[in-house]
Amino acid sequence: EGTRPYLLGGNWKANGTLATLRALIAEFNAAGPIPANAEVVIGAPFIHIPECLSSLRSDIEIAAQNCSLTGPGAYTGEICASQLKDMGVTWVILGHSERREGFGMAGEDSDLVARKTKIALAEGLKVMFCIGEKKEEREAGTTMDVCASQMKPLADILSKEDWANVSIAYEPVWAIGTGLTATPEMAQDTHASIRQWVSDNVGADVASAVRIQYGGSMNGANAAGLLAMPDIDGGLIGGSSLKMDFFSCINSVP
Ligand code: G3P
Repeated sequence: EGTRPYLLGGNWKANGTLATLRALIAEFNAAGPIPANAEVVIGAPFIHIPECLSSLRSDIEIAAQNCSLTGPGAYTGEICASQLKDMGVTWVILGHSERREGFGMAGEDSDLVARKTKIALAEGLKVMFCIGEKKEEREAGTTMDVCASQMKPLADILSKEDWANVSIAYEPVWAIGTGLTATPEMAQDTHASIRQWVSDNVGADVASAVRIQYGGSMNGANAAGLLAMPDIDGGLIGGSSLKMDFFSCINSVP
């Protein structure tokens, strides 16, 4: 809807080598202009962030895919929000379902993700805050309960001003990397419920301004249908963001 600029995020996850990354950056840099009503951000692996900052076209911002709850200080292996900000990173993706799941390590719970978000915002970063239900949860009809429980700790600690720098990325877990996309109607329905929840629990002003991105097998073929929906304000794109198809998504904004 007119007042919310579209937000298209690419999430490269742990993909790419310096060589493949350089080739992709060259292709992105040679692509046409980005529509004026779209904001584009790439979530790069930490180690590739400097290459992106120095080589990627300046109308694409850079996000990290995580940040530490703590630091700076004695936190071996961590990267903290103030370090990201210092490098020139402007966004961070937090609470991605893969990090919540933990891939063999302790996963992140909603309270932790909310606290990281608060710290990232305090350091001046913008946050894509990821939520979304698993397949069994959708089948059990608890999609909104899950999304609400993921947002509640955030709503409890953010100020209204904080929300200006938050985008909610709704990623149904069953649609991530599976080629199974939510239909535009299904996604719209959940996005509208999320916006209603924000209205009821944070405020109507925040609800009408906050962007809600859809994530889960979005690509150049299905993006237009999704982005045409009134409560879908962008995408968070995994696999397709590693290809020129990302620009098909970007160019699908209404
Ligand atoms: O964060 C984006 C993501 O989880 C979606 O991945 O590969 O289904 O587009 P993909």
